[in-house]
Amino acid sequence: MAIISTAGLARTFTTRRGPVEAVRGIDLTVREGEILGFLGPNGAGKTTTLRMLTTLLAPTGGAATVAGHDLATDPAGVRAVCGYVAQSGGVDPQITVREELVTQGRLYRLSRARAAERADELARDLGLSALLDRKCGALSGGQRRRLDIAMALTHRPAVLFLDEPTTGLDPGSRADLWDLVRALRDEHGTTVFLTTHYLDEADALSDRLVVVDGGVVVADGTPAALKREYGGSRDASLQDTFLAVTGRTAPAADAAPVAV
Ligand SMILES: Nc1ncnc2c1ncn2[C@@H]1O[C@H](COP(=O)(O)OP(=O)(O)OP(=O)(O)O)[C@@H](O)[C@H]1O
Ligand SMILES: [Mg+2]
Repeated sequence: MAIISTAGLARTFTTRRGPVEAVRGIDLTVREGEILGFLGPNGAGKTTTLRMLTTLLAPTGGAATVAGHDLATDPAGVRAVCGYVAQSGGVDPQITVREELVTQGRLYRLSRARAAERADELARDLGLSALLDRKCGALSGGQRRRLDIAMALTHRPAVLFLDEPTTGLDPGSRADLWDLVRALRDEHGTTVFLTTHYLDEADALSDRLVVVDGGVVVADGTPAALKREYGGSRDASLQDTFLAVTGRTAPAADAAPVAV
């Protein structure tokens, strides 16, 4: 069953220098319980798409539904089923991890006691228990990223949108996050919509990849299918496949770096 479905989803920004067509018409479906890797070069329109699907940004064209809720007519319904970890997280540096998690629970209308309980559960799941009384501003980059994710999971969303969740994480924290994403899917049936520039991560985690470039979908399929179709064989690297899909060719191994 499709849990996310978009048709011609588009967003044009009006700027003083004229219109910027960030997303030019995205058609995609995501199945319930799928881990979708949403890939594309810088500026392809990934974050803009995620911001639309989580109701933070109004589309200027097209339509979408998330878990049966229409973006245009039922944004509150969409918000209730979505968790979103933004590319640049947003925690208050002055308050403690515990306060941040409890506040988030209260925003989702949990009772004071339940919010406190949920903060403990989330801290345990995300390896933050020892940091509950630390100020958010004093966390390392990776610890802050884990807090961003904990906050997004507060209301046990059916769909979790993660925008470059592992950027800046050390290899151990990255592996932990992969485990967490798989556990969310396997144990709770959570659908995960994830952007990343780490192609090894996309390859390891995703059931399916959607590649966008210039605000449109340029490839859609399982990692193996895309490698076969664009990389020449099932054993092609996802790196070469990605470069072929987005019209950039891999530099020869002995080529001198070119200034751009
Ligand atoms: N508020 C805005 N006003 C004007 N242009 C914008 C705005 N937000 C995004 N854009 C432009 O829209 C395009 C898509 O941006 P977006 O952030 O969606 O890319 P992305 O695929 O997430 O890239 P990255 O991999 O660098 O995070 C870019 O050209 C960007 O400059
Ligand atoms: Mg982005």
